[in-house]
Amino acid sequence: MKNRSLVSIEDYSKDEILKILELAAKFEAKPVQKILEGYVVASLFFEPSTRTRLSFESAVNKLGGRVIGFSDSGSSSVKKGESLNDTILTVANYSDLIVMRHPLEGAAKFASEVSQVPIVNAGDGANQHPTQTLLDMYSIQKTQGTLENLNIFLIGDLKYGRTVHSLLMAMSKFNATFNFISPDELKMPDEYKIYLDNLGLKYYEHRDFTGYISEADIMYMTRVQRERFSDPMEYEKVKNVYVLRNHMLKNTKDNMRILHPLPRVNEINEDVDKNEKAYYFTQALNGVFTRQAILASIIGVV
Ligand code: CP
Repeated sequence: MKNRSLVSIEDYSKDEILKILELAAKFEAKPVQKILEGYVVASLFFEPSTRTRLSFESAVNKLGGRVIGFSDSGSSSVKKGESLNDTILTVANYSDLIVMRHPLEGAAKFASEVSQVPIVNAGDGANQHPTQTLLDMYSIQKTQGTLENLNIFLIGDLKYGRTVHSLLMAMSKFNATFNFISPDELKMPDEYKIYLDNLGLKYYEHRDFTGYISEADIMYMTRVQRERFSDPMEYEKVKNVYVLRNHMLKNTKDNMRILHPLPRVNEINEDVDKNEKAYYFTQALNGVFTRQAILASIIGVV
C-alpha cells in the first residue's frame, strides 16, 4: 500500500482490506500517536463534506501531521480557471499525500496519473468512495464479528450513491448476498449487477423492504442524492420513498445493525436513533480510526 494511490476499492485485495481493518483496530485502541510528525496532508474538497473532510483532518492531527487545503474550491485558483492538472501538480509540491473529493467521476483517477504523491479518493461523483467503504467494513466487522457470508440490504439511491457501489465491490470479496431496495428510477446500475453475476454472487431487487428485513444482517440506508439530479421534479418524486421508522424494526435480527454513510435527510426517522440497532453515528466515529490506518499505510509509517 505504501506510496500507492487509493482511487477505487478495487485497488485493494481482500488481504489488504483486512490489513487496514486490523490497523484501524490498533488506532482505535491508541488513537494518539505522533507517527506523522513532519508530514503534510493536502485536503482538496471540490464538493461539500462534513464527515470525510473532518475525520481525515482529525486522523492527521491525532497522528501529529499537518493539514493544508481547501473545503471550497471557490476560495482557490480553480475559481480563476486553473485546471485540475495544474492544481494537483502544484499541491503535490507542498504535500506528502492528497485527499481529494470531486464531483466528476474519474477525477481522482486522473489526479493519480499526474500526481507525484499518492491520491486518496474521498468521493468522485457517483462513482466510488473507497475510504467510506473501508470504514463501513470496519463497522460491519465490529458489529457482526465477521465479514463473511452476510446478508446486506442496500436501500435508497442505488443509482447515484457512490458508497453503495464501493461497498458492493468490497463485500463481494466476502461472499455477501445483496438485497437492493430502491425506486425504479434509482435502481442499482447494470454494471454492478453484471459484476456480481460474473462472481456468481446472489442479489435480489425489491421496491419495498418491510417484508424482507427480518433476513438482514446489515441495513445500509442511503440518502437520495439531490445534487446529481438534472431535473428537480424527478428528485421531488423519489425523495421520500423510504423512511425507516422505529416500529418497523420489531422483527429484525438481534444482531442486525443500521448503517448510513450520512448525511441523512428524511430516510431515517429520528425515533430510530435511540434503538440499539442504530449504528450510524458510531460508524462515523470509526471513520477516524480507519482513515488513520489508510494514511499511515500509504505514507508508509506502519
Ligand atoms: N459519508 C460522507 O461522505 O459524508 P460527508 O459528505 O459529510 O463527507
